[in-house]
Amino acid sequence: MAFFRTVSFSEPMPAITGNGIMLRMPQMADYAEWAQLREASRGFLTPWEPTWPSDDLTRGAFRRRLKRYAEDQRADLAYAFMVFRNEDGALVGGLTLANIRRGVAQAGSLGYWMGAQFARHGFMTAALRALIPFANENLRLHRLEAACIPGNDASIRLLEKTGFKREGYAREYLCINGAWQDHLLYARLRSDAP
Ligand SMILES: CC(C)(COP(=O)(O)OP(=O)(O)OC[C@H]1O[C@@H](n2cnc3c(N)ncnc32)[C@H](O)[C@@H]1OP(=O)(O)O)[C@@H](O)C(=O)NCCC(=O)NCCS
Repeated sequence: MAFFRTVSFSEPMPAITGNGIMLRMPQMADYAEWAQLREASRGFLTPWEPTWPSDDLTRGAFRRRLKRYAEDQRADLAYAFMVFRNEDGALVGGLTLANIRRGVAQAGSLGYWMGAQFARHGFMTAALRALIPFANENLRLHRLEAACIPGNDASIRLLEKTGFKREGYAREYLCINGAWQDHLLYARLRSDAP
């Protein structure tokens, strides 16, 4: 359903630039840095993410991950990005726009993570602010959604400062860290103020 999409993904997608950061599709060459950052951030990330499979950080699992990303992108189902710091090119985190619904919805759901050592430097704020216009204009999405656990102060603050509005509360919405957990539901419309 690429009907409303303005970018062609038979060609590599251009990088998206933001304030001090750059977003681009993950590549196999990112594996070592990605695995090292995720391992170093395990304790910081796992309370807020689906349980990591035991082989998650292996090269084979990363290869399968990239294959899935490419398939999803071709099908206009999801777009995955890694976030790099401009200053030195370091990989700092990741951002995914997934579960894209076309037709009368024109909506997608955001997920994000920051490496522990890079947290609270404004990188995810910059990454989201760069992604939002791309999602609204290039992908023609009308509505961006995100959900977070009520105690996730970092995620709540991130969403609220980037213009997302709290719309609801979903009971046992996602299985996070091995347990079904309630979530706050947020969304940002294309017509919301920049
Ligand atoms: C949520 C997350 C991606 C934010 O990334 P980040 O790069 O640290 O975010 P930023 O530095 O852009 O900060 C965004 C806002 O959140 C605030 N913030 C960041 N960490 C915070 C924390 N632990 N407690 C309270 N506020 C926090 C920042 O101060 C900033 O607000 P401000 O500008 O008013 O000061 C990161 O904390 C993370 O990966 N957390 C673990 C995984 C996770 O929660 N994933 C999302 C699941 S929904």
